[in-house]
Amino acid sequence: MSGHRAGHRRRRLVLLAGSGLVLLASGCAAGAPSTLDPAGTGARRVEGFWWLLFWISVAVFAEVMALLAWALVFRRRPDRRINHSDPIRFVVVAGAGLPFVVLVAVFGVGLRDLAALGKPDRPPAATIEVTGHKWWWEVRYPGVDGATANEIHIPVGEPVLVRLRTVDVLHSFWVPQLMPKTDLIAGKVRETWLHAQRPGEYRGQCAEYCGLQHAHMAFLVVAHPRAEFDAWLGRLAAPAPVPDSDAERRGQEAFLQNACVACHTVRGTAADGTVGPDLSTIGSRWSLGAGAVPNDGGHLGGWIANSQTIKPGNAMPPQPVDAAALPDLIAYLRSLR
Ligand code: CUA
Repeated sequence: MSGHRAGHRRRRLVLLAGSGLVLLASGCAAGAPSTLDPAGTGARRVEGFWWLLFWISVAVFAEVMALLAWALVFRRRPDRRINHSDPIRFVVVAGAGLPFVVLVAVFGVGLRDLAALGKPDRPPAATIEVTGHKWWWEVRYPGVDGATANEIHIPVGEPVLVRLRTVDVLHSFWVPQLMPKTDLIAGKVRETWLHAQRPGEYRGQCAEYCGLQHAHMAFLVVAHPRAEFDAWLGRLAAPAPVPDSDAERRGQEAFLQNACVACHTVRGTAADGTVGPDLSTIGSRWSLGAGAVPNDGGHLGGWIANSQTIKPGNAMPPQPVDAAALPDLIAYLRSLR
């Protein structure tokens, strides 16, 4: 009977461990940004701490399992090897003393890492102003007139200061491969920094539930070599390109005659709205609607006609654009790079 029950228990343990492994593996879906694949100095520190906690947990788990096995084997054969005067001392040392030492040590390492995450090891090479909106990120570079959205370009190999504000609710700025989360708090300016160690594109995500489209509040951090970054910043500072085809010219006209201009800016035109993202470089951005859909002609047309079907609740109402004018409007916006 008890043998049968032990077998049952073993099977259950195996099942539990197995399902744990499956859960663990499912967290590593390809393409998802992982803290365990760091590309920046901040995330690297977090990764180091994660592995420290992991191996301590493994050691504690192994120790507890070994003790459990030992107890299961020896409990039916009392007073053979157990010295009955020892249990109290054992519980105090292994159950309280040892955990206390380990936890204090981990706390010390955590404090050290927190202090290091607070500021980079050298003065930041650039400053970026990021403002959270429901549900997109406004990105500005002090001294540069232009603005972009849901995309942060940085030079690789240099720490960059990011100043964070929100115009509405709480959001949280998180780039798992570069830096842990920083909350955006109304009425405050929070600071974090990014220091990418290799060029690449790193997905970021709002990590604080902020309403209906919290999941569609993603962004991309693009780390370039310095010269490439400077060239990109130069393009951001310049006025938007002028139309160079008839379709684009008609599209620009349609843009300026419709309600678009009330909320959006295209630098170098009469459009200077500030409610929605600056569209001066919309054609080059990685997505529409902060990661909601890919940035291509079809999705752009759908977004203009009725973005509420793509990202319900966003601030842009459906636009009654003449169907004949829509292809031109798309051509114009696609040319803004
Ligand atoms: Cu912004 Cu969640």
